[in-house]
Amino acid sequence: MSESRKAELHYDGKKYEIPVTVGSENEHALDISKLRSESGLITIDRGFKNTGSTKSAITFLNGEEGILRYRGYSIEELAEKSNFLEVSYLLIYGELPSKTQLDDFVNEITSHTLVHEDVKAILDGFPSRSHPMGVLSSLVSSLTAFYPKSLDPNRSLDEINGTIIRLIAKLPTLAAWSFKNRMRQPIMYPKNKLNYTSNFLHMMFGLPTTETEINPVIASALDKLLILHADHEQNCSAATVRIVGSSHASLYASISAGIAALWGPLHGGANQAVIEMLEEMKDSGGDVEKYISRAKDKNDSFRLMGFGHRVYKNFDPRATIIKKAADDVLDQLGIKDPVLDLAKKLEEVVLKDEYFKTRGLYPNVDFYSGIIYRALGIPTDMFTVMFALGRLPGWIAQWKEMRETTEPIGRPRQVYTGENLRSYSDINKR
Ligand code: CMC
Repeated sequence: MSESRKAELHYDGKKYEIPVTVGSENEHALDISKLRSESGLITIDRGFKNTGSTKSAITFLNGEEGILRYRGYSIEELAEKSNFLEVSYLLIYGELPSKTQLDDFVNEITSHTLVHEDVKAILDGFPSRSHPMGVLSSLVSSLTAFYPKSLDPNRSLDEINGTIIRLIAKLPTLAAWSFKNRMRQPIMYPKNKLNYTSNFLHMMFGLPTTETEINPVIASALDKLLILHADHEQNCSAATVRIVGSSHASLYASISAGIAALWGPLHGGANQAVIEMLEEMKDSGGDVEKYISRAKDKNDSFRLMGFGHRVYKNFDPRATIIKKAADDVLDQLGIKDPVLDLAKKLEEVVLKDEYFKTRGLYPNVDFYSGIIYRALGIPTDMFTVMFALGRLPGWIAQWKEMRETTEPIGRPRQVYTGENLRSYSDINKR
């Protein structure tokens, strides 16, 4: 990484030299960390649209060309040839595992899937209509109570590894239990002879009980979805995990915050919002054009959910892969669903529409992932939980990198626009 190039800033008759950092994919960034002490200036960039918050070696993303790579491996190749736990290992530890390393990793995870029985008491305290994302975030945070050593900021990386394994092992159990709470159904315990994805389906639906009972098209689509969601560099939830962790809060607390950030409809919550939007369209007569006009109307806050992305302005490479998986699942299951038919119609019309073309608004991964989850019978408010299961290794990798590189506490500045100093006036004189 070269640090020798410099940019110049001329301001108020003075010249300032700003070092340029160049990344391994030739991305150039102005390093303004000393700008304020030298010139008194800060930078402002609401929503961090053009601000690199860190240097990271985990995920490379080029939104203009639709490139996404984990640790240098293309998402297309990983989705085709790898599986979710292998990709998790790659993201967290930096390299693809050997056979022995992967076996050990999978065995460790498989032997930690149970959660403490007292977690059930916490779960029982939630009302039945609780959104599973809120329950999941709370349960993950509650793990600090069961593993208090995780709160020690001076733990070695070896000790932190125990927390990493527990999180990957227990998140499917907690996720399925948050669903069972919502349905007021008895919880299902993990069945460790099943693989990661099948075990989750088993805890949700009671099936499969053996690996052979799962339809391979479904197993492959779910595994692909988890892989495609596994990391996405400095997005809203990953940045949240890093910033919470930068205060030396525990990994459990940081992941709990990441789940909360993912929940919103502009981020991971979009997959739920897509199906709710399509259902509303269907119930109001299926007039796709009406909704498209609303999305274009600047006086209407309505947006087409599942379209557009902060960084992808040509196409979302994850969406290309998952669209194919969605088609396979619908074909395989022979599903006829007016809501899914409407999705196809909407996609067709939007892709030809000038408003969306000129703004680089294409279907994103959440447009198609919602379609697959619905076809599999996963309830709509569990969709974002599925996203969280996939994103977990990315959050862990981001947190671990932040700690390993001893990143300073995250603390942005601001430009104050409020009142200047004024005197307090007595309440009777106001
Ligand atoms: N429907 C209609 N217009 C849109 C949409 C949309 N979904 N998305 C963006 N626009 C318009 C927006 O009105 C603006 O138009 P103009 O330039 O005329 O003012 C222009 O496109 C740029 O939008 P922006 O809000 O400045 O873009 P952003 O980068 O801040 O927002 C986004 C990105 C994903 C929040 C936004 O596209 C959106 O709200 N999409 C719908 C929600 C969604 O599907 N989110 C999931 C993202 S994928 C999962 C993940 O990685 O989190």
